[in-house]
Amino acid sequence: MDNRAIGIFDSGAGGLTALRCIREIMPNEDIVYFGDTINVPYGEKSREDVIKCGHHNIEFLRSKNVKMILAACGTVSSQLSYIKSDIPVLGIIKPICKKAVSVTKNGKIAVLATSATIKSGIYKKTCAEISPGMEVYEQACPKLATLIENGHISPSDSELSDALCEYLKKINTLDIDTLILGCTHYPIGEKAIKNLLIHKDITLLDAGKEAAESLKKFIYENNIQSENAHKSENIKYFISGEKEAFAKVARTFLGYDIENLISPEK
Ligand code: DGL
Repeated sequence: MDNRAIGIFDSGAGGLTALRCIREIMPNEDIVYFGDTINVPYGEKSREDVIKCGHHNIEFLRSKNVKMILAACGTVSSQLSYIKSDIPVLGIIKPICKKAVSVTKNGKIAVLATSATIKSGIYKKTCAEISPGMEVYEQACPKLATLIENGHISPSDSELSDALCEYLKKINTLDIDTLILGCTHYPIGEKAIKNLLIHKDITLLDAGKEAAESLKKFIYENNIQSENAHKSENIKYFISGEKEAFAKVARTFLGYDIENLISPEK
């Protein structure tokens, strides 16, 4: 048993997709969330800068005495093997690749993710390690996380639709049956993505959701679950940039106003 909080970080609101699922499946766990919104988007940064951000975020959460960390960010997760930490840090990529490989019927998977993540080739590599012979098409979506972070979420939003039309153009010509939303921001815009997919029977997979399940497994396997009684709000949110925009996206996505929104001391 370990009553300390779980740390979660992302460049911004994307990690909320994992947080929401963690709340649902492990309501007793306290959470410290860090959204590095001053540095969003991570997906357009160099590999070195992504690694630096990862180290910084882990250091910040360690200073809050968390028991373990979820890198709820595909971009940082794509470089996790280069990031050192003396407390456990889980990423989002392996869980969702396992899921994709298990649900695809025709072995044809596509991935939407940030430029940095796609450049790393991590989704293709991880799917191939789990099950050789999978066909994985990777599509970079340079503007998507920033659009979502700035509240362009609605399927009727023209900026969001224009960007998505571009990113889904090739995918709409392929006979994939599984689409990985490989950046944690993307499930926030899932309705818009679904709307623009020509083949409506494609299964969309949410990296945050699969990461939450694997985190639960890790916690129980290592016997570090919390015994804290369920409380209505056991989450602290630290946001490095402007708090209002984050609060707005969080409200739309989570469906309630978040409390305990804090600016970290500089
Ligand atoms: N949500 C993050 C990811 O999963 C980062 C997106 C970004 O900041 O570009 O990749």
